Amino acid sequence: MKAITDKLGRPIRDLRISVTDRCNFRCSYCMPKEIFGDDYAFLPKNELLSFEEIERLAKLFASLGVKKLRLTGGEPLMRRDLPALVSKLMKIDGIEDIGLTTNGVLLRQYAQPLYDAGLRRLNMSLDALDPEIFGKLNGRGIKPDLILANINHAQNIGFEIKVNMVVQKGVNESEILPMAAYFKERGIVLRYIEFMDVGNDNGWSFKKVVTKKEIFDMLNAEYDIEPVEQDYYGEVAKRYRYKDNGAQVGFITSVSESFCSTCTRARLSSEGKLYTCLFASGGFDLRDLIRSGMSDEELQDAISGVWANRGDRYSDERTEQTAKNRKKIGMSYIGG
Ligand code: GTP
Ligand code: 5AD
Ligand code: SF4
Ligand code: SF4
Repeated sequence: MKAITDKLGRPIRDLRISVTDRCNFRCSYCMPKEIFGDDYAFLPKNELLSFEEIERLAKLFASLGVKKLRLTGGEPLMRRDLPALVSKLMKIDGIEDIGLTTNGVLLRQYAQPLYDAGLRRLNMSLDALDPEIFGKLNGRGIKPDLILANINHAQNIGFEIKVNMVVQKGVNESEILPMAAYFKERGIVLRYIEFMDVGNDNGWSFKKVVTKKEIFDMLNAEYDIEPVEQDYYGEVAKRYRYKDNGAQVGFITSVSESFCSTCTRARLSSEGKLYTCLFASGGFDLRDLIRSGMSDEELQDAISGVWANRGDRYSDERTEQTAKNRKKIGMSYIGG
């Protein structure tokens, strides 16, 4: 294996693979309806990497040190036949872990085929238990009951599940404690995510962020909690344990406590561009290289070159100014 590190000495360990730029939700902080309307031009099929191309690239990344894959979107379950891709990726030498990040709407149909394909971990997004707040946030009027039923269904099949809640000031703060109580009782890890300035159109400002400290104080007033060791080097979440029943809760603090110094994540867009940061302005076109007939060796060299040049640490440097003025890729395009 040719292990590689970037300009700040960070190895490449994880690859987040976006399999589609489409989604059946229109979360205001990610795909606001006004921009992603009926006439929005999503990528045509021939521009998406095929499963064979994704598999080939994942193998090359594994040969450079990647151990963990995460499938994202848009909404990854909107890519037809996703379980077939999971089966292919499961067989790659060196890959120790595969996860899927989903809004959960299509899980009733896909949870079992995904499990049969070998997938064991699901991260599901849910921002509120209150139907009105959730319906408005997802932009499609989808009820939380549907997602909760699908979480339950996936848990019964045997998946390890985490729930992601993006917290926005004045929008779903009131849901912080109800969500904690609900998932604590079910032994599911709930992770509160600080609202981030991803893309250029989500109306972000520091004022709309509810910080880890604020949420922690609310939880701490209600429950006895203690910190838990990280699961793996560079884990994005800081986790805590409820002392009474052992359930866990976590925080993803990209804004108030950035974690760039241990960031080992590369991102592959659905059209085959390699990005070295969630907040990057541009990517490196691997699809073009593959389709021009490059050998594995040449592709490995190209990927290593991009990683060796990486100096990204956007969240360390974020200001109200960079949030507004820097051109950044969209969240739904790169999948978080
Ligand atoms: P596991 O730890 O494997 O469960 O996955 P994860 O938490 O890395 O993945 P998930 O897709 O559930 O992401 C949770 C949140 O963390 C999302 O809001 C992501 O955008 C955010 N996130 C993941 N990686 C990074 C990162 O490198 N930088 C920043 N700023 N945010 C990230
Ligand atoms: N800030 C923080 N998290 C976000 N997500 C999407 N947009 C944002 C944002 N602006 C979350 C989703 C999903 C994960 C992939 O990223 O809710 O759980
Ligand atoms: Fe879709 Fe996830 Fe973006 Fe919401 S956050 S619009 S579910 S991709
Ligand atoms: Fe990594 Fe960029 Fe996120 Fe920092 S902001 S943790 S460098 S993806």
